[in-house]
Parts: sequence; structure tokens; C-alpha cells
Amino acid sequence: MRRTTAWMFMFVCVAVAGCSKPESGHGSTTTTAPGAIAFPDSWPYPSADTGVTAAHGMVATDAPIATHVGATVLRNGGNAVDAAIATAFALAVVLPAAGNLGGGGFLVVHMGDGREAALDFRERAPGTATRDMYIGANGHADDRSITGPLAAGVPGSVAGLWEAHERFGSRPWAELVAPAIALAEQGFVVDSDFAGAIRGDSARLAHFPASAALFLPHGRVPLAGDRWRDPELAAVLRRISASGQKGFYTGRTAELIAAEMRRVHGIMTEKDLAAYQAKWRDPIEFTYRGHKVISMPPPSSGGLTLALVAHELARFDVRAAPWHSPREINRFAEAMRRGFAVRNGLLGDPDFVTIPTARLLSQQYADSLSKSIAEGHATPSASIHVGGGATAEKQQTTHFSVMDGQGGAAALTTTLNGGFGSAVVVPGTGLLLNDEMDDFAAEPGRPNMFGLVQGEANAIAPGKRMLSSMTPTIVLGDDGKPMLVTGAQGGPTIITTTYQIMSNVIDYDMNIGTAVSAPRLHHQHLPDSLYYERGGLTKATLDSLTAMGYATSPQSPTGDLGYAASILRRNGVVHGASDPRVHGSAEGY
Ligand code: DON
Repeated sequence: MRRTTAWMFMFVCVAVAGCSKPESGHGSTTTTAPGAIAFPDSWPYPSADTGVTAAHGMVATDAPIATHVGATVLRNGGNAVDAAIATAFALAVVLPAAGNLGGGGFLVVHMGDGREAALDFRERAPGTATRDMYIGANGHADDRSITGPLAAGVPGSVAGLWEAHERFGSRPWAELVAPAIALAEQGFVVDSDFAGAIRGDSARLAHFPASAALFLPHGRVPLAGDRWRDPELAAVLRRISASGQKGFYTGRTAELIAAEMRRVHGIMTEKDLAAYQAKWRDPIEFTYRGHKVISMPPPSSGGLTLALVAHELARFDVRAAPWHSPREINRFAEAMRRGFAVRNGLLGDPDFVTIPTARLLSQQYADSLSKSIAEGHATPSASIHVGGGATAEKQQTTHFSVMDGQGGAAALTTTLNGGFGSAVVVPGTGLLLNDEMDDFAAEPGRPNMFGLVQGEANAIAPGKRMLSSMTPTIVLGDDGKPMLVTGAQGGPTIITTTYQIMSNVIDYDMNIGTAVSAPRLHHQHLPDSLYYERGGLTKATLDSLTAMGYATSPQSPTGDLGYAASILRRNGVVHGASDPRVHGSAEGY
């Protein structure tokens, strides 16, 4: 096994004129009254959105049918993990672009009895994967990491849901898989999001006969209002229901996956499938303005980068600068820029690279980054070197949040990576394989054709997990119980979206509907550009940012900066919000 000590290569060099003086409020709750929050008139979503309220528990997802499945489990006495398992299986049927059996993800849990855990069910590179497997004849990586059989890592989702159930489940496994079986077998009426997603990827799906047969019946994209069925997926789910993890990773389903890989020159084998195990990891824990936060550790970069950004901003009294004022945006952009420089350069699978987690989580380390923030000025990313590069990713993943009535919560983010993953449906299974291999650095140190430039720490190796940005996160209230359950989809913007939801609620007292609807920002070190959602900043604010030296880049407000189905418990009431950028839902009891 190759093991790289990324830390050895780390150096931080920032060359800017002047540093700002730390303000009070370092890591503690501030007393400054928050200003009233008003979104610009040009912003399409309401600022007075209170979300859905309930007395006991809540599920919020990107797909209403899956939300209802999860909420029903809670109503029937299931805990947050039971509901998360049923919701994830339902998403594999009703949101096939992102929900999955053939992908992977991460789960962060705080149980009603206080137990906390982080579960890694990220895909792994197959056993014969090699560092340069996507390098073509011209010496550069090509698109085999994105479309087709070589793009797929060994799926982790079923093992993850099984493992979560083994440790925390309270309802029978088969009862939690049953709603997904019914949806796949009996079908459901598709909406415009479902049809639009297939339309968007129809050319890729048409390339593979089993994918075309499933997603383009009679050669056309399904229309909103059509009934959708996936009986072969129902059969796969039945085997999972009967035999758990083994029902997917061995036996008929594994045989079908491996046979298709042999037929189309993929490299995943039955041995790779049988060897897959989800892993419990120690959650990333840190304090944000007096609140304990738990999030996902590597191989996701999410929790560590979230903590870095939060700790960098701890030197400022955030609430002294009005929400989305140029001053606040300037500080936030600089914290993101530096956090991502570290993320892109140093992080990878902790089973393969040494990650100095304790050091990266220390306030001292964050201070060493943030002391170079010159207020009123953009620091050129070219002057910040932490040994790595930029990320740019395609769109599809799904995050959901669960809070039960027993003081428990689950935050789960799952993905095929790009929409519909590799676009390969395994014949006889109705299931899509992921294209998560593209999250590795296909060409370390150089941008591949999709803009990914990451370091050796995230190079491909057999059995290794590719670095992720998924950030399922739970924030505890003063009573030690879950207060906020959040996370997002959206590639690297997942991390910054998650931070903004947390800050909107904690620093600016927003209710959860407003916090999720609010316009968002993103910076990821490279490209050296401050992303904002079109209509989300006023012209005056954009002019101020330009004067500070920012190159600003407008993004679509319909999801370029992610979706973030979230739940907030405040004053004994549970509030849930799906993201208005997608047509999800929240449902409580
Ligand atoms: O693990 C990751 O960070 C990516 N595979 C997530 C991709 C994603 O969020 C795309 N969706 N919007």
C-alpha cells in the first residue's frame, strides 16, 4: 500500500501587505444584536420563509416522496437512523440522478442517548486501479473517469446503510427497505425535476443500451405525469432486504455487476465487491460561537475545511458586520480561500496519507492562516500555497437531514458524483454505477479536463477512497441536544454552503427557511474568483468587492451553489426547510 505523508510537503506562504487586528468575540457567543436581514429585491426566494414546523421530529430532503417515507418511519416510532436508512433507500428509487445503491456517502449521527458517530461509506478504487489509469495517448487524463465502466468506484451505500442499522437501528431492516421496494415495483408519478434531470443527461444515458432502456423508454425522455417503475431495482432491493449487505456484495447482484464489468472492460470484480466495508471514523468536532459542531472527517474534506473556515473567522466579531455587507463578505471570502488551499493540497484518504487532523483543527493553525487577511483587500490566491490546486465538479448529489423526537439526529449526504454517475446501468439490476473515480486527482498537480487539480495526497491507488467535499453536520444546542442538522450537495460548494447555513442561524439568528433560502457565496482558492448567486448581491456590494480586488463570478441561483435541506430546533419547536432551489420538502410530526 502506498502511503504519502502529505504533511511533509506542506508549506503556507502568504505575501500580502498588512494584517488585520483580531477583534473580540473569539470563539464565543457575541452580544452584538444582529441587524434585520433583507435579501436584495433581485433575489428570487423569500426572506420570510419560516419552513415547516413540528413538535417532535422532522425529515427534510430534495425529493418529497423520500421525505414522506422518512417521516413515516419517525411517526411509527423509528429513530433518526431508522428514518435515514429508509429515506436513503427511497432516494435510490425516486431520485436516480443522485440517490443510489451504486454510489457512496457519509453519515453523521447524534443519538438520543448521546452517542455520536461518523460513518464512511465512500466508494473505493478497484483492486487493479492504477495512478495513471485515465492518462491517454496524449499524456493527459481523458473522460473515462466520468462516463463508462472505468469511472466507477466500488459502491459503498448498501454497506453503509447496513452498518448504520447494525449499530443504531431500532426497527427491523426489512421494514426500512420495504417502501423503496414498493416504489420501484409499483412506480410513482414523475415530476418536472425528474424528467428534466434525465433530459439533461440523455445523451450520456443513450450511449449504454441498459441505461437507455431504463431512462429513455421508447427512445424518449419521460414526461412529468408519467408513471415510473424500475422492477429490476426492486429485485435488487429484495435481495438486500432478505440478506442485508451480503445480498448486494455477494450473490446474484454482485455477479451481475462483475459480469457486466468483464463484458465492457471495466475493472471492478466480485472480489472488490465482497471486500467492501463501511468504516466508522471519529467525527470532526469543534466549537463554533459556543456550540459543539460534529461533522465528517477524511476521506471527506468537509468537516476539516468547515472547521478551518469557522476557526479563521473566530478572530472577528462576525455580527458586527451586517450580513452580506462588503466587510463580512471580504472576511468570509478570505477564510474560504485559505481553507480550500489547505483542503486541495493536503487531504486524501486517511488510510493512505497522514493527515495532521489535530493540528489542522487547532485555533493556532487557523490563526496562522487568517492573520494574513487584510481587511478591505482580496488576497491573490497565487500568493497562498499549500501544495495543491482547485476543484470544479459536475452536479449531482443529495443531502438530507433527520431529527427524531428522542433527541437524535442524522445528517446523510450521498452521491453518484455526476448526475446519473457513470451513466452505466448494470443490465438486470436497474442500478446506476457511480463516476466517483473522477474525485481522485486523475493527473496530480495538473488540471484534468474538468478542472480538478489536486495533490499527490489524492492520487489513485488500489482500494483507496477518493477525497470528497460532503459535509453532513450536526450542531448541538445549549442543552447538548441537536439544534441544527445540515449539509448540502454541490461539489466543493457543499462546504461553504454548510458554513453559511450554520452562520446564518447562529450569527444572524435566521430561521431555517430564511437561512436556506438566503443567497450564497463560494470561494475555493482556485480559480481565484468569488462565486455569488445571480441576483443575490446588490450592484453596490458587487462594486465594493470589485474595488477590493475580487473577480466576481455569477452563478445560477437554481442550484450552482448547492441545495441544503436542513432542520433547526429552536425554543422547543422543530423547523424544517428543503431548498427552494430544488423541489424537495420537509415533513414533521
Ligand atoms: O464527494 C464529492 O465531493 C463529490 N462527489 C460531490 C459531487 C456533488 O456534490 C455534485 N453535485 N452537486
